Amino acid sequence: MVAKLLGLAFLFLPVSLVTCATHVQIKSNWEVVYQDISVYGVVGKAVILECGTTLPDMYIWSFTKPGTEAIKAVVYDLGKGTRIQKLAVTLGQLTVISNSAAVSIENLPVAAQGLFTCQAFYDIEQEPKVVYHYVHLTVRVPVSKPYLLMSDVSPVEGSTMWMRCNLENGTGPIQYVWQHETRTGNISTFAQGNTSLINVTDVNRNHTGWFRCVASNNVNSERSNRLWLDTIFGPDIPQIDVTPYSMTERGYSALERETVALLCQAQSNPASQYVWFYNNSQVYTGPQLTITKILRMHTGDYACLAQNTYLNTRSRKTISLTVYYPPDGSPSCSVQPALNHTSLRLLCSWPGGFPSASLHWSEDLKRLGQEEADTRQQPNPLTNTAILLPADGLTSNNSLFSCMGSHPALKQSIACSTRSYVPPAEPVCFAYVTNNKQYLMLSCSWDGGAPKALVWWEGPGDQGKGGEENSNILILRYGTARSEKPYTCHAKHPLLVQTKTCRLTLEAPVLLTQRRVVSVYEGSDVQLTCNLRANYLPVSEITWFNNQGADTHDTSKYKLLRTSAWANLTVRDTDETGDSGEYRCTTSNAVGGTEINVTLVVKRHPMPPNATLINAMYNSRQRIEVELEWQVQSEEPGGWTGFLLEHRWVSERPGRRGSSNDSKDEAEDRIGPPVWSHNFIQDPDVRSHTVLRLTPTTTYQFRVTPVNHRTIGHPSAPKTPAEPRSNMYPAVIGAAIGGMLFAALLTALLLVYVIRNRNNNPRLHDMLFGLQHSQSRENINFPEDDVVGGSEGGIEEIGGFSSPGPTMALPRAASPLTASPMSATPSASQGPPPGDDNEPVSVTITVNATGS
Ligand SMILES: *[C@@H]1O[C@H](CO)[C@@H](O)[C@H](O)[C@H]1NC(C)=O
Ligand SMILES: *[C@@H]1O[C@H](CO)[C@@H](O)[C@H](O)[C@H]1NC(C)=O
Ligand SMILES: *[C@@H]1O[C@H](CO)[C@@H](O)[C@H](O)[C@H]1NC(C)=O
Ligand SMILES: *[C@@H]1O[C@H](CO)[C@@H](O)[C@H](O)[C@H]1NC(C)=O
Ligand SMILES: *[C@@H]1O[C@H](CO)[C@@H](O)[C@H](O)[C@H]1NC(C)=O
Ligand SMILES: *[C@@H]1O[C@H](CO)[C@@H](O)[C@H](O)[C@H]1NC(C)=O
Ligand SMILES: *[C@@H]1O[C@H](CO)[C@@H](O)[C@H](O)[C@H]1NC(C)=O
Ligand SMILES: *[C@@H]1O[C@H](CO)[C@@H](O)[C@H](O)[C@H]1NC(C)=O
Ligand SMILES: *[C@@H]1O[C@H](CO)[C@@H](O)[C@H](O)[C@H]1NC(C)=O
Ligand SMILES: *[C@@H]1O[C@H](CO)[C@@H](O)[C@H](O)[C@H]1NC(C)=O
Ligand SMILES: *[C@@H]1O[C@H](CO)[C@@H](O)[C@H](O)[C@H]1NC(C)=O
Ligand SMILES: *[C@@H]1O[C@H](CO)[C@@H](O)[C@H](O)[C@H]1NC(C)=O
Repeated sequence: MVAKLLGLAFLFLPVSLVTCATHVQIKSNWEVVYQDISVYGVVGKAVILECGTTLPDMYIWSFTKPGTEAIKAVVYDLGKGTRIQKLAVTLGQLTVISNSAAVSIENLPVAAQGLFTCQAFYDIEQEPKVVYHYVHLTVRVPVSKPYLLMSDVSPVEGSTMWMRCNLENGTGPIQYVWQHETRTGNISTFAQGNTSLINVTDVNRNHTGWFRCVASNNVNSERSNRLWLDTIFGPDIPQIDVTPYSMTERGYSALERETVALLCQAQSNPASQYVWFYNNSQVYTGPQLTITKILRMHTGDYACLAQNTYLNTRSRKTISLTVYYPPDGSPSCSVQPALNHTSLRLLCSWPGGFPSASLHWSEDLKRLGQEEADTRQQPNPLTNTAILLPADGLTSNNSLFSCMGSHPALKQSIACSTRSYVPPAEPVCFAYVTNNKQYLMLSCSWDGGAPKALVWWEGPGDQGKGGEENSNILILRYGTARSEKPYTCHAKHPLLVQTKTCRLTLEAPVLLTQRRVVSVYEGSDVQLTCNLRANYLPVSEITWFNNQGADTHDTSKYKLLRTSAWANLTVRDTDETGDSGEYRCTTSNAVGGTEINVTLVVKRHPMPPNATLINAMYNSRQRIEVELEWQVQSEEPGGWTGFLLEHRWVSERPGRRGSSNDSKDEAEDRIGPPVWSHNFIQDPDVRSHTVLRLTPTTTYQFRVTPVNHRTIGHPSAPKTPAEPRSNMYPAVIGAAIGGMLFAALLTALLLVYVIRNRNNNPRLHDMLFGLQHSQSRENINFPEDDVVGGSEGGIEEIGGFSSPGPTMALPRAASPLTASPMSATPSASQGPPPGDDNEPVSVTITVNATGS
């Protein structure tokens, strides 16, 4: 009751008797003390509102709702216990803490927010003090679970979007934190601030992931569920991976027959679709293009097209792929002369392939020589490598040089090699003449080296010929060749410092004959000889011209025996008038010609001595046989070969005709002209003969003519035979003749002996046969002592040569030359190479090949 009153007093009498807390200094002037304090509570929780530290004697709690002026009592205690007002129910479960003036409010409602005033009265009995405690109660609401909103959960990269963090409850100020969680779970703060909405400009692919927001105030913090943001983008420019990887300045490369995989990757959301193009034509769909056993024709441009089907965007990348392939076969090596055949150039080449093979000469060669990039000959220097070896580096014959060729498409290098060597033999020179005798060819060859040797000719005057490889033929117009100096062939090989030479000395032919003058008796065969002085091989043909100046051939008159060295002309059955004269033997070659004259003197045999018919007589009455006897004027035997016994009919004996032997012969004799009938006796020693089978009725004349071969002597005076004597004569005469025949036989035997032994008994021979006609009947050749009258003495000495041997004819054109003194080897002639179309005729030339 008292408290209630006090409360009323409070309301109406602000100056009260209440004393306040110990902190309060009660002023002596009775002034009321005012105290302010703020208290924060959370809705639904409990809060204690203090009213001083000591228990006052009386107190009144009142409440003023925010926004209103009215102050309303909640609870009081005027010394008679606490009295809780009805209003307190709206302010939560309000209780007064015992033994204090503080009140506790549980299950705090938001409506409890406002100003609580505790009017406390102390020392009411003595000196009352009044303290006003103003307690400002703030009731805070915790944030509720926010939820996230996005303007677009699948934004396109580069676009702008917003995110909002929505809350139902929560007192401010509220802080917002946006969290981003990547695909991998890495969580980071994306943004924070005091606004619930953020704008994301220029969304990118890194924004893809989970988002959540966290809202916080002074009471608590709550986070939302996460939300997936999927950024749409791409495709980016594709990336192409080539396996196996091999990059060159031109692009990618692959080796032929390898398997090549081209993988295309382009970042994109959603994932890219891939299409492959080869040289702008579509070949494949899908990210990886695999070419098994790639070939060189697969070289070209490969393009990958990536497409984002959602955005309908695309991007493209092109690479160039080159397929490497090796050249065919193996490298080839060769050796060539260089710098005028003083050096070697080694060539190594391996054309084809891509890229070009790389070629290397062996290391020691590179040290010796000087590498050349021979770009003149080949547009691509890599297919060719040359090395120049100078002369001083080359001494050894038969050296081997090798070159290695390598190519990226080959596992192993391939080598080639070449050798350099000097021709095995010495240079060979020879000469020949073309068939039509238009040209003289001097040939020089030095075959068989590697590289080939350089061969050139130097001759007298300006005659010469520049270098050619292996062999060289100097062609001279026939007749322009010179004989005074040798023609020298030079041959140079890079492996030899010295030049080799061989020489040809041209020499005009010289003809010889055994005799310049040949005399024979007519009727015999005679051989004229002609031969070349030196044993020239091959020789030009020797030609014989007869005494009429005509070319001779084998006829009944002439027989020509010919070899390369000589030509013998046999004149058959010589005749004094027809065959005597100058015979000419000629030959010639490119340097000159010559001829030799042989005088043939055909002599008649000497006149036989006169013979006289000393006896001509019928040996019987039948008159059919006549015995003849004759004698020779000079009884020296020999010199003639026989006798010609002749008879001729002179007249018919009258009356004797009937008994005459009526033979045919006689009838012919009678009607024929009075010609001589011949009877040849081929025995110079016979001096008598019986002519048989005469016609008895006819008168004959007989005569004898000595014969010396073809020379017929003077006939004797003709004789008519005498009549036979008595019948007994024949026996006597027969006996006498028999004795004479025996004597004649002895004489004949003696003569035969003397002739056969004339050398042993020259005096006897000379005595019997004289000095003039000493040759045998059968000797057709040279009468030993015969000298052709009228010839200027000493026919055997011609052209100043006084030789006891065969006669020599000098060449017409040029004087003979001997072989060069430098000639080391004897003359050697050689025929033209076989198979030559223009088969040369022989020419007489001495060839001296000299090596050095
Ligand atoms: C917000 O507060 C009101 C009143 O206090 C309550 O009914 C509601 O459930 C609260 N909302 C949330 C999400 O807590
Ligand atoms: C997560 O993000 C932080 C900073 O953004 C970085 O340092 C860290 O390496 C990331 N961790 C992973 C696993 O990605
Ligand atoms: C949010 O914060 C900014 C500064 O960070 C301040 O200027 C602004 O007044 C705040 N807004 C609210 C509603 O608290
Ligand atoms: C976000 O953008 C909208 C309009 O685009 C604008 O009205 C708003 O103020 C922006 N908010 C922030 C936090 O920038
Ligand atoms: C995305 O993140 C990566 C590394 O975290 C960065 O290198 C790249 O630049 C970012 N991209 C963009 C578009 O910001
Ligand atoms: C493809 O292009 C390359 C380079 O332009 C060319 O060398 C190649 O021959 C082409 N291939 C075909 C099949 O056209
Ligand atoms: C080559 O060598 C020959 C002989 O030694 C010489 O005559 C000629 O002049 C040379 N040529 C050059 C170009 O040196
Ligand atoms: C050089 O070598 C070749 C080939 O082996 C051989 O035929 C020739 O006789 C040799 N020459 C010399 C001068 O050794
Ligand atoms: C031809 O004459 C030569 C002498 O000039 C001689 O050697 C050769 O034997 C002769 N030939 C014949 C077949 O008589
Ligand atoms: C050889 O004889 C011919 C005539 O037959 C003559 O013309 C020529 O001069 C003679 N030759 C010599 C060298 O005597
Ligand atoms: C030989 O006979 C001829 C004619 O009958 C005569 O002329 C000549 O003088 C005679 N010779 C000799 C040596 O008596
Ligand atoms: C004629 O001659 C022949 C022989 O010659 C002889 O036999 C013959 O008896 C002769 N007749 C007469 C009549 O003499």
